[in-house]
Amino acid sequence: MSTAVEMKSPPRSPVAALARAAAYPRLRYMGSKYKLAPHLGAVFNDVGGTTFLDAFSGSGFVGYLAKAMGYAVDTNDYLHFPSVISRASMVNESVTLTDDMIAAICGPAADDRNFIQTTFKDVFFAEDDRVFLDSAWSHIDSLTGFERDLALATLILSAARKQPRGVFTISGDLSHYNDGRRDLSLPLREHFRERAAEYNAAVFSTGRTNHAYTGDVFDLVKTDYDVVYLDPPYAPPSDDADYTKRYHFLEGLSDYWVGRKIMQETKTKKIPKQKSVFANKRTIEDALERTFDKFKDAGAIVMSYSSNALPGDARIKELLGSVKPNVEVRMVDHQYHFGTHSSAARRSVQEYIFIGRD
Ligand SMILES: C[S@@+](CC[C@H](N)C(=O)[O-])C[C@H]1O[C@@H](n2cnc3c(N)ncnc32)[C@H](O)[C@@H]1O
Repeated sequence: MSTAVEMKSPPRSPVAALARAAAYPRLRYMGSKYKLAPHLGAVFNDVGGTTFLDAFSGSGFVGYLAKAMGYAVDTNDYLHFPSVISRASMVNESVTLTDDMIAAICGPAADDRNFIQTTFKDVFFAEDDRVFLDSAWSHIDSLTGFERDLALATLILSAARKQPRGVFTISGDLSHYNDGRRDLSLPLREHFRERAAEYNAAVFSTGRTNHAYTGDVFDLVKTDYDVVYLDPPYAPPSDDADYTKRYHFLEGLSDYWVGRKIMQETKTKKIPKQKSVFANKRTIEDALERTFDKFKDAGAIVMSYSSNALPGDARIKELLGSVKPNVEVRMVDHQYHFGTHSSAARRSVQEYIFIGRD
């Protein structure tokens, strides 16, 4: 942990950071904090410090915002594709994809691989888009370092934007989802060119060292960050918050399914579910207690949670309070549209931001 003096000096003003973060290449992701950026920016500005962990990074947006605020940032997620995205957009300080690289990836294939064409035939995307994904990978396979991360993040974002609702639980003929949006009709090859420009524009330097890890939060080695930001899956009252089910195609696309088992009997050709103790109401309390204890040496623990998940805010406050005696709770109205009459309004959802300090 940094000294108390360092903790008192906040990072750069969030105003410029928010402007930069607004241009982040946006992946539609369950629980993404893109819309909460002003609230989170204000919290991080109040808390201060210089080192930051985004322990459940997902789309990578919060780690990117923290970097824009001047922190040295580490991100982590137990899925692989979030670390690819964070390396490309946040860890990377200066590398961009050149016009020649983009032209090569969008040009004729470098080999005759066809894994995506055959595995996902009649499941995801039209034939020419699947041919492009294999062909793009035939070039990306020979890239290394941040160039490879950028090309993969671009391919992942392209696939996510083209898939209706951005989730891979729906497959086959999805024409009834077509609401005329350009993203749904743009060929993946064109998406790639446009998304590459977005990622190139997102790269910036702070001169600090940042990392992106893939793994379970409990396996992280360093814990004494100035700020630990926790945005675990929200454990719903029924069912569970399963990220593998929704994003299995993006996860496989991030490493071309190498060494992965595909559940051939499933309609969407899923990969096996990666269980999370945070995603289920029976295991969430113990998981939170262990997580807070793990990060008890951090300067501050900041956690996002939702009012329509378990456990409730009073219990979370109690659990966090056992390692950080000063707990503040900020509430943000989430913009879910449930209608305007009084019974519907009662269903509106609050996003909580818990801030635990010594
Ligand atoms: C609510 S999302 C995070 C959203 C992110 N803050 C954003 O703005 O996009 C929760 C993330 O936790 C990850 N996750 C679930 N269980 C995990 C675990 N045990 N360790 C690390 N990451 C986990 C999921 O893969 C998912 O990306």
